[in-house]
Order: sequence, then C-alpha cells, then structure tokens
Amino acid sequence: MLAMLDTLQEDAISELGSVDSINGLELWRVAYLGSKGRLKSAMPLMKDVSKEEKPAVGKRLNQVKHALENAFDTRKQELAGSASARAPMDVTEPGNDVALGRRHIITNTIDGITEVFSRMGFSIAYGPEVEDEYHNFNALNIPDDHPARDPIDNFFMGGDRMLRSQTSTVQIRVMESTPPPIKIIAVGRVYRPDTHDATHFSMFHQCEGLLVAPKVSMVDLKTTLFQFAKSYFGEEAEVRFRPSFFPFTEPSAEVDMKMKIKGKWQWVEIGGCGLVDPNVFEQLGYDNDKWQGYAFGLGIERVAMLKYGIQDIRWLFENDARFLRQF
Ligand code: DAH
Repeated sequence: MLAMLDTLQEDAISELGSVDSINGLELWRVAYLGSKGRLKSAMPLMKDVSKEEKPAVGKRLNQVKHALENAFDTRKQELAGSASARAPMDVTEPGNDVALGRRHIITNTIDGITEVFSRMGFSIAYGPEVEDEYHNFNALNIPDDHPARDPIDNFFMGGDRMLRSQTSTVQIRVMESTPPPIKIIAVGRVYRPDTHDATHFSMFHQCEGLLVAPKVSMVDLKTTLFQFAKSYFGEEAEVRFRPSFFPFTEPSAEVDMKMKIKGKWQWVEIGGCGLVDPNVFEQLGYDNDKWQGYAFGLGIERVAMLKYGIQDIRWLFENDARFLRQF
C-alpha cells in the first residue's frame, strides 16, 4: 500500500508538470483529487492493511493528499499568471458594474419643489447662510426685544454675524437688489441650536417664496400654494390656512396641506405665509401705495418625511447608505 501511494504521488506530480492550461488542470484535479479520482479509490484499500501498519499508512495517505493539493494550488497560480492559459478576451462581454451612487433624498425633494414653482413662473434666488442680524431680524420687522432673537435659539457668531435661522432673509436681499415686480423662491439651509430628536435638527432646509406686484391678495397666495400641493402631492391634495402671526407678514397664516400618509389623508402643518407687512416694504423704500406682496416659507424636511413616510429627521443626516439607498 505504501509503495502504491508513492507511485500515485510520483505519477501525479510528473503529470502535473506537463499540464499547461486551466482546462488541463481541471482534468488533472478530477483524475487525482476528484470524488472518483485515484486518491479516493485508494481509500477502501485501507481495510486490507494490517492493524500494526494502519497508522503509518493513514499518515502517508494524508501526506499524499496534502502534497497533491499544494501542488495543484501552486500550478494553478502559475497558470493564472501566464498569458497562454488565459481565455482569449471576449469584447462582447458586459463590463463590470460601476456603483454610481445616488442623489440625497433632500436634494431630490428640493428639485421636485423647485421644479413645480419654476413651472409657475418663479425664479430661483440665493442668499448667504452666514448672515447679519439686520437681514435675519430687523429688516423682517423683528424688533430687538423679540423672543425669536434669544441667544438660546440662534447661532450667533460674534459681531452681528449669525447663521441664518430662516430663509426669509433672502426676501430682503432680493428686494434690496431687484426692483419690483418680483417672483422668486429661495431654497437653502437654516440653523437653530435645537436638541436633536425625531423632529428637530440643528440644520434643516426651507423653501421661501416671495411675490411682489401691484395688486396681491391672500387669494393669490392660497391659489399658488394650492397649485403647488396638487402638483407635488397629487390631485387630491388640499391646502388650509390657520390664522397666525409673523412679524414680516400681515395678515399671517400657518399653512397645512392635506396629504396621504400610509394610505390615510391627513392635515399636516408644513409652513407659514402671509401678505408682506407694510413695515418691511417701508424699510426697503418700496412704495406701499404701489406694491403689495405675499410670502411663504415651507419646511423641506417636513415635506420629504411626509412624502416618503420617514419617522426620524436624524436618519436624513446620518449618511447611512443603507437608509439613503431606499429613496
Ligand atoms: N420664516 C418663518 C419660520 O422660519 C416661516 C415663514 C412664515 C416664512 C411666514 C414666510 C412667511 O415667508 O410669510 O418660521
């Protein structure tokens, strides 16, 4: 038996030396190491070996097996490295997939919202995220002693600089630089030092709207938001105003939209709005007898979370690809 194993190993190694292709290597593997190969066929012969010899023969059997497996691996690597063993290149094979990534759900929501307002004739305006207190407050008719200016609710940066807490700042910047009529939306980040929880984050996005024209009423405002709701959330969507107060609009209202959440229609607050307060126009030198305006501000995260049924605002900003991939 020992002699037979020696022969088997010699045969195998010498034959392996002349194998020169991956196919040949596979045939060799089947012949020697396969389930019907020579090594497996030698196993049953163990039962004829005397009891004293059994340990030695068993050990040799294992040695041969390992020697063949190692030789196989080595030859396989050699062949993989040599060009002759490689299959000819097939130029018609599909290429490797490249992971393209995708746009963030907030980016998509912003694009969806801007697209609807663009179709309604609004242009896009931008303003800085690092603002001064004048544009964030005073020009918006928010006096020095107003609670919205509490340091606890704002990121003040020294001097009169701060991270803007609302995109309403862009209303002022546009009116400063552009003569009326005006019809813009401004989308961007705003910052408030809120403790993070399921519905609060220290950075979020708003979509601001401003229209300035000779004659503007709450009806124009409601119609615009109503059209937006139908385009963005679907034909069945509705809009409701609830009386409210903002220093820069008079009258002011909270905006609710009726939308489908998990198959059920519900009223959800998504922003504020109103007619531009005459004090705001006056500060900017706009003639209150000639111009009227409406303004609105919508929460982008709110819209995205409602549209996609997301329960926790923090998930949007954790950059966990497993979550973001879903949208
Ligand atoms: N800036 C307000 C906020 O962040 C939202 C808002 C209310 C914007 C009324 C407006 C408006 O343009 O007219 O809470």
